[in-house]
Amino acid sequence: MEKTLEKTVSTKVFVFTLSLIVISSITLSFLKSSRSHLPIPSIPRISDKTCDVFKGKWVPYPQGPYYSNETCRLIVDQHNCMKFGRPDTEFMKWRWKPDECELPRFDAAQFLEVARGKSMAFVGDSVARNQMESLLCLLAHEAYPEDKSHNSKLWFYADYNFTLSALWSPFLVKSRAADINNNSSNGIFTLYLDQPDEEWSNKIEKFDYVIVSAGQWFFRPMLFYQNSRLIGCYNCNQNNITSISKYHAYRTAFRTAFETLISRNNYTGAIFLRTFSAAHYENGEWDKGGNCGRTRPFRSNESKLEDVNMEFYLIQVEELRKAKEKGKKRGLIFEVINSTEIMWLRPDGHPSHYGKFMKKNTTVNDCVHWCLPGPIDTLNQFLLYFINAV
Ligand SMILES: *[C@@H]1O[C@H](CO)[C@@H](O)[C@H](O)[C@H]1NC(C)=O
Ligand SMILES: *[C@@H]1O[C@H](CO)[C@@H](O)[C@H](O)[C@H]1NC(C)=O
Ligand SMILES: *[C@@H]1O[C@H](CO)[C@@H](O)[C@H](O)[C@H]1NC(C)=O
Ligand SMILES: *[C@@H]1O[C@H](CO)[C@@H](O)[C@H](O)[C@H]1NC(C)=O
Ligand SMILES: *[C@@H]1O[C@H](CO)[C@@H](O)[C@H](O)[C@H]1NC(C)=O
Ligand SMILES: *[C@@H]1O[C@H](CO)[C@@H](O)[C@H](O)[C@H]1NC(C)=O
Ligand SMILES: *[C@@H]1O[C@H](CO)[C@@H](O)[C@H](O)[C@H]1NC(C)=O
Ligand SMILES: *[C@@H]1O[C@H](CO)[C@@H](O)[C@H](O)[C@H]1NC(C)=O
Ligand SMILES: *[C@@H]1O[C@H](CO)[C@@H](O)[C@H](O)[C@H]1NC(C)=O
Repeated sequence: MEKTLEKTVSTKVFVFTLSLIVISSITLSFLKSSRSHLPIPSIPRISDKTCDVFKGKWVPYPQGPYYSNETCRLIVDQHNCMKFGRPDTEFMKWRWKPDECELPRFDAAQFLEVARGKSMAFVGDSVARNQMESLLCLLAHEAYPEDKSHNSKLWFYADYNFTLSALWSPFLVKSRAADINNNSSNGIFTLYLDQPDEEWSNKIEKFDYVIVSAGQWFFRPMLFYQNSRLIGCYNCNQNNITSISKYHAYRTAFRTAFETLISRNNYTGAIFLRTFSAAHYENGEWDKGGNCGRTRPFRSNESKLEDVNMEFYLIQVEELRKAKEKGKKRGLIFEVINSTEIMWLRPDGHPSHYGKFMKKNTTVNDCVHWCLPGPIDTLNQFLLYFINAV
């Protein structure tokens, strides 16, 4: 990244097994909104790209968040930090200020008008779901959806004929739990790096907008297959198998995902890469007492993106750039929600131990997911900004 920053806070990212725990389904019942549609305020189109909205800083926003755990009924306990006693509130009172323009406020009515008659899918892991949940809360200002979940999470906004879905695919490529020596799961996953995960690839053609993201699961031990052959493994403790880096897997997984979308001639939607969301463990690894107790964002000179976080980000952006070139030939739109560095500045936004993400006693803190409301809401401000332009 071009930006040079000074002091470094050493923070490491580790395998985060908590993400294995699938978010429990939401069982509330929902009311349909019967509000009438207000005129849509216009916001600047980005076709005349004069401003880089990702270059900027977090500035105080005393007006506070768009919603609360009382006005949005869809926050799962895992992200409901206020319900579980988080004492500070300042983390909800910042907004992203691009250096050369304003990022428009999220406008639920406008979003729903743009999305009318369309469908949107978040493809990825539990952080992708976290972002979808943030969107549900932002939209709750205007409308609540019906839960039409079957195998995957699916919400339907009847008044707008808008479908919102989360397709669970933490590796993007075909995968399964695997142990080469016995059938009981020990946390090793087998990845077929050149085959898309059918969880999303079989369903994707009907979606107008696809938001692709992935990350934390690539820190696990993995076995890799390519061309139907075992080509190696990462961190698998098998002397007789070639060691392959997680970066190769990460790059290949995104390449396979993007090429799948490009090669499906019936796919005509817009694809957004939401870049890697780094974890913020400090003073220890995730399973060794590491935590994220900050209550303020970093200033841009306080901490810089580095090591694995930087590498993951660079890999994604490179693969996106290639996909964009290829996709252009048949009119496919690829955009980047370039949020890795922006979110890196928000160590204050995670549940830590204020999120009921494990039923049993644990000393594990969640510094991967994001509190709602919280900084992750900003990602959907970017999303609206871009879907307005495509
Ligand atoms: C919302 O948060 C408050 C603390 O700010 C808490 O007392 C309350 O139980 C929470 N409500 C819900 C519905 O989560
Ligand atoms: C709702 O949207 C879908 C596309 O997502 C479209 O096929 C269908 O005709 C729409 N239905 C109505 C009633 O507008
Ligand atoms: C694992 O399960 C498969 C089929 O379920 C079986 O054929 C195989 O023998 C099992 N392997 C071991 C090591 O138990
Ligand atoms: C199978 O894997 C489990 C979990 O890692 C382990 O406890 C067990 O000893 C293994 N069994 C064999 C026969 O290797
Ligand atoms: C590696 O060794 C283990 C046992 O030592 C064996 O079960 C496995 O099949 C071997 N894998 C390969 C790829 O040779
Ligand atoms: C693509 O769309 C055409 C016409 O809409 C349809 O006949 C064809 O089966 C579709 N192909 C796939 C792979 O879904
Ligand atoms: C970062 O910049 C601020 C002013 O923007 C300054 O007050 C602070 O001392 C700087 N911190 C470091 C670690 O350089
Ligand atoms: C992403 O944003 C960072 C600043 O946060 C900037 O340095 C970088 O060039 C941007 N990359 C892209 C592809 O927009
Ligand atoms: C949970 O933690 C409390 C306090 O640390 C301890 O007394 C209790 O035994 C723990 N329960 C379990 C099931 O580990």
